Parts: sequence; structure tokens; C-alpha cells
Amino acid sequence: MPSTTAPWWRSAVIYQVYIRSFADGNGDGVGDIAGIRSRLPYLKSLGVDALWINPWYKSPQADHGYDVADYREIDPLFGTLAEAEALIEEAHTHGIRIVPDIVPNHSSDQAAWFRAALAAGPGSPERARYVFRPGRGPDGTLPPNDWDSRFGGPAWTRVPDGEWYLHLFTPQQPDLNWQHPDVHAEFESVLRFWFERGVDGFRIDVAHGLVKDPELPDLADRHGSMHPFWDRDEVHDIYRAWRKVADEYPGDRAFVAEAWTDTPERLAAYLRPDGLHTAFNFDFLMTDWNAKDLRTVIDDTFSMLGTVGAPATWVMSNHDVMRHASRYGRKAAKKWVANESYVPAGPADLELGTRRARAAALLTLALPGGVYVYQGEELGLPEVEDLPESVLQDPVWEHSGHTDRGRDGCRVPIPWSGQTAPYGFSPEDPEGTAAPWLPVPADWAPRTVQAQTGDATSMLELYRAALLLRHKHPALGDSTLTWLDAPAGILAFRREPDFVCVVNLSTEQYRLPEHTSPLLASGFIENNHLAPDQAAWLAL
Ligand code: NOJ
Repeated sequence: MPSTTAPWWRSAVIYQVYIRSFADGNGDGVGDIAGIRSRLPYLKSLGVDALWINPWYKSPQADHGYDVADYREIDPLFGTLAEAEALIEEAHTHGIRIVPDIVPNHSSDQAAWFRAALAAGPGSPERARYVFRPGRGPDGTLPPNDWDSRFGGPAWTRVPDGEWYLHLFTPQQPDLNWQHPDVHAEFESVLRFWFERGVDGFRIDVAHGLVKDPELPDLADRHGSMHPFWDRDEVHDIYRAWRKVADEYPGDRAFVAEAWTDTPERLAAYLRPDGLHTAFNFDFLMTDWNAKDLRTVIDDTFSMLGTVGAPATWVMSNHDVMRHASRYGRKAAKKWVANESYVPAGPADLELGTRRARAAALLTLALPGGVYVYQGEELGLPEVEDLPESVLQDPVWEHSGHTDRGRDGCRVPIPWSGQTAPYGFSPEDPEGTAAPWLPVPADWAPRTVQAQTGDATSMLELYRAALLLRHKHPALGDSTLTWLDAPAGILAFRREPDFVCVVNLSTEQYRLPEHTSPLLASGFIENNHLAPDQAAWLAL
């Protein structure tokens, strides 16, 4: 696609398509590429600039696509390579860019390389592409070190010949050895494969995890040195090489990193001019609905990014975390630790959470930089917290020994239309279609796209109006903000030209600033006053 003046990725609204739950085109109960293609007019009318699509590659689906068996093939569950190519082309004709996920930290245990590694045996060149080691203890029956899998249990699995292999996630996701030149060459070739098919960038899974300390030291022995597998300095060499690959292609191809780091400075290191373009702002996602904390995280974001010249990204929800309508509907019960599963206590007050989610939408869409919208947040979907245990599918549930319900509650299929579940997620077929892969709540009829379309009070129409204004208003998108004086609990900032955003996170009414007129508000504005948990966009 032709580039305009500033690169698109500095200000894009990127809609996250969790493919298996977005729209089911073939009636098997699982979302697919045909479903996405059929909903392009919806995405166009919503006003998004790009789609980040969760992994669509050939995969046994042990972690819903984050276990890739072939990075150049589409999983038959989702369609074919020809359909992916058609989607890229059709999206481009709608002015929508396509950003697939890439999963470089680990492959599937069914990938050709891993199967060859198992067959070839200890000491073979095939094993060197993964992280195989002998075990500890007299018979090698103990794992090579004390690392745990992110999903519970040891990060090592023993194979029949006695060696162990490393997997920071499930045993079906063996970690690749990024000390090996084949791994570098393979992923650069995969990037090219998709860039040649027109993708506009990649979301990089576990971008901070690729390089391991070759000594594989015990975590218990770590004394102030770099972490043996997270966010090691050497990882940046990989992304400098990837940046060169992206820059070979026309049209501003861009990367977004899923990188969890201890400090904002360490995150900025990923975004140096010769590295990646953007990274998810997880500090913002993990911040509670609190004016002081939000302002701090916004300011810290800009001071961190100012050092490298990268644009901010604002993100509230994704396929790994509790949906924000449900988070904001609770008192902050505990501190959210980066990259740990987070379960706030007590039931959510969804009316409150929804009011805040509306205000938060106007806040994020008015901030300088790009914004991620997770499918369904534009419908105000809450987390589905009462899925019966018998339907839970996230590997986290099994691997945690049924102590952590995992992430299925934010992955429930999107309700499109009609009065009964699954609300148009799958095509209506007189022969009958398969049930959706996760059940859709019986009370979601008022939440469908159809029910919300044309209802000026709906979340969907709020998003549509905000995205339309964001596109038209010269103050919105990239650039800077200036905070305005405001009492505690109020966030108020100005953007040039002539635009003010005010968010009321206090418990009192707040009188709108003089000489302003509302452009858009998250709720009805009475008497020129913003109610608690309301936001407004104002013209000066
Ligand atoms: C992060 C992804 O967002 C998550 O869904 C996945 O389980 C892990 N990476 C492992 O690939």
C-alpha cells in the first residue's frame, strides 16, 4: 500500500482478530479466514486501519496456534494459503492493513525440524536447532535446571533416549535455539515469504524470550546478572536483522513486539531506530482505573519513547488477559505482576465497568500514538467468567493442575446477530452447523453487532463515532499532548489544534472547561457537567 506522509504505524488503530473466535465461515464452530473476509465491510465501517491476526499457521493447536508446525502453511481449520492471499488483497482494497502474528521463540513439537531432532538422537546437528540437554542426577532423571514453564510445571520434558528439551510454554512448544544460524536464516526467510504476499508487518510473540544464556544457569543462582531467558541484550541483534528485511520491502512494513521487560528503559531498547517499530504498552494495560496512576503511566510512556523516537501504543485488552469491562468493574484487589496470570477478587460490577470502558475508549483514542482494539471490546463484551470447567480449553487449565482457569473467558466467539446463541457466529444452515468451540452466553442478544448498530447509546456506535472523528480531526493520531490543570481525579489534556479530552475518574461531577463545546462524550452530558466515569472530547 502506498505510504502517506507519516508512516501508518505511528498512529494506526489496529483491531486484533482472534481468528478462532471472530467469525466462522464454514460452519465447523471455529472462526476462519472465510469468516474474516465476510466481515471486512464491518471492519471498514468500524473505521480500523489494520488487523493483527493471531497465528493462522499449520498447527496442532496445543496453544491455539502458538504452536506452529509450518510457518508457510495455513492451518486447514482456518483455510488455505490462497484464502490468506485473497484476504490480504481484499483488506487492502478496503484500506485495511494485515499484520499476522509470528512465533519465533518456539515451534510445535510437530514441526519438521523438531521431529527430525527427535529421530536423529543426542549430539546430532538436528538437535542443535532446539535446546536439548542431558538430565541431572545419577541417571539423568532430573531436569537440566530449575526453570519452570510459564504454564506450570518444569520447563523441560524428557524424550525416550533420555535427553531433555526446553519449553518455556507447553511441552508441545519446544524452544528454538537462537544461537544457531539455521534458526536466524529460517525466520528471515519466513518473514520474506509473507512480506512477498503483502502483509504489512508482524506482531512478534514472546519477543523478549528468544535468546537464552548458553550456560542455562539455575534461576536460583541468579545474582543481579541478566535473566537467563527473558529480555537478554543479545535479542536486539535479531531484531536489527529483521528490521533490515522489513526495510527491503516497500510500504512501511512494521513490527510490534510482545516484550515484557522490567523497566520502561529496557522496553525502549527494542524500539531504537534500527530495531522494531512499536511494542505493546503493557504498563498501561496493567494500570487500574485511577487518574493518578494513569497519568503517571502515560507520562512514563512518553519519556521512555522520547529517548528512541518511537510512537506510543495504547492497549487495554487482548486474548491473554481479562477483558477490561470486567477489570474496571472491580476494585483493584491486588497488584498486577507483569506476565503473570491475574485474577482480581470479587464479582465485577459490569454497569460500572462498562461506563468506565466507554470513558477509557475516548481516553485511549485521544492519546498520541496508535491504539489496539481487541475484537469485541467495541461491543463492550465482558469476560465470560462462568464457563463450565468441562468446556475449558486453554492449556493453562490443564498445566496448572486445574488451579488457573486460563484465558478462555476473553476468547468467547463474537456475537453478530439474531436472538439465540451463537448469534450469527457460524452460518445458519438447515443441515445444522457445529456448536461454537466455546459456548456463547445465552444473554448476549443485546450485545450483537446487529442489536447495537444504529443505537446511539451503544458501545459500538461510540467506537464508530470516535474512530470517524479520530480520522477526520487533525489533532488526533501521532504528535504530543499538553496536560491541563485539573483537580485530583480528573485527566484533562489538550492536543493541537483546538482539541481537549477530559476524563472524570473522581466521584464528583466535573464542570467542563470554559469556551469548549462537546464533540463526543461517553455518556449524556447534563448541564455542562461530566459525571463520574465519563469522558468527553471537546472543541476549543
Ligand atoms: C503470548 C501469546 O499472546 C499467548 O497467547 C501464548 O500462549 C504465548 N505467547 C506462547 O506463545
